[in-house]
Amino acid sequence: MFSYRHAFHAGNHADVLKHTVLIATLDYLLEKDAALTVVDTHAGAGLYRLDGDYAGTSGEAVDGVQRLFARPDGATPLTDALARYVEVVRDFNPKGGARIYPGSPFITHHLLRDQDKLKLFELHPTDARSLDANIAQLDAGRQIAVLREDGFGSTTKFLPPPSRRALVLCDPSYEIKSDYARVLDFVTGALKRFATGTYAIWYPIIPRPEAHDLPRRLKTLATKAAKPWLHATLTVKSSKIVTDSSGAKHRPGLPASGMFLINPPYTLKAQLQAALPQMAELLAQDRNAAFSVDSGG
Ligand SMILES: C[S@@+](CC[C@H](N)C(=O)[O-])C[C@H]1O[C@@H](n2cnc3c(N)ncnc32)[C@H](O)[C@@H]1O
Repeated sequence: MFSYRHAFHAGNHADVLKHTVLIATLDYLLEKDAALTVVDTHAGAGLYRLDGDYAGTSGEAVDGVQRLFARPDGATPLTDALARYVEVVRDFNPKGGARIYPGSPFITHHLLRDQDKLKLFELHPTDARSLDANIAQLDAGRQIAVLREDGFGSTTKFLPPPSRRALVLCDPSYEIKSDYARVLDFVTGALKRFATGTYAIWYPIIPRPEAHDLPRRLKTLATKAAKPWLHATLTVKSSKIVTDSSGAKHRPGLPASGMFLINPPYTLKAQLQAALPQMAELLAQDRNAAFSVDSGG
């Protein structure tokens, strides 16, 4: 069940999309003084070494965050949301480069204020231990709770939070087909308990019907609940299986991913319309690189 390890993928194109959206959303929500609760239903290990054993195995950050750090002086300036993402990752790398990659728990904690709370769910025993150890170094006391519980099943106990302001990041690994249906059940239940929360759901765009259906079903869910939604996608390469000269077939790896938000910041669409063309251009792995931004409600 637990074959997925985010360390293999940390800092890849999907993280660039996901974390750019996360940072822009948090920046907006943190403009108000009232306390914010952030719930990360699938937290991962929190912090990753991009020069470590796991990341080195696939090196996905090379075609992700590290491309943004390798731009020559004098290159076209980054658009605001992408520049802000790079700035946050740079805060974790004071000696330059991108050797340390902050996962969603560390990005979020970096931006939160004293009055805000962070609830982290992680089920994988090894990642949960790493997350515990990484979070302990922050000395954040009661501001952060780490729970070795099912992020789909247990999250709703924190909704609505006392301040009635929350961002829920739902970022499963989708290694089990049932994750797609569980996301829908989770969001349906969470919206019933707390209709005004902001929900941000990441999903992979891969050739399987469940992945294709998920954003469509989330749109229906948001529309039925009369809530605004925003859907952004980033494609970096073709999803076609490649046959090499020896006849061996190669899967291309993750070609694209999407972020679906319910009750997004009203500022986010314009930010992503500016940032995504540049993201697609800088992270392109072949001529199929593309993006989309769509909204409703
Ligand atoms: C894509 S990774 C999370 C990455 C993280 N959100 C980030 O952006 O840095 C998904 C994580 O969910 C964990 N996981 C899988 N099923 C889970 C569940 N039901 N509840 C909580 N965590 C789960 C996996 O072990 C994995 O670490």
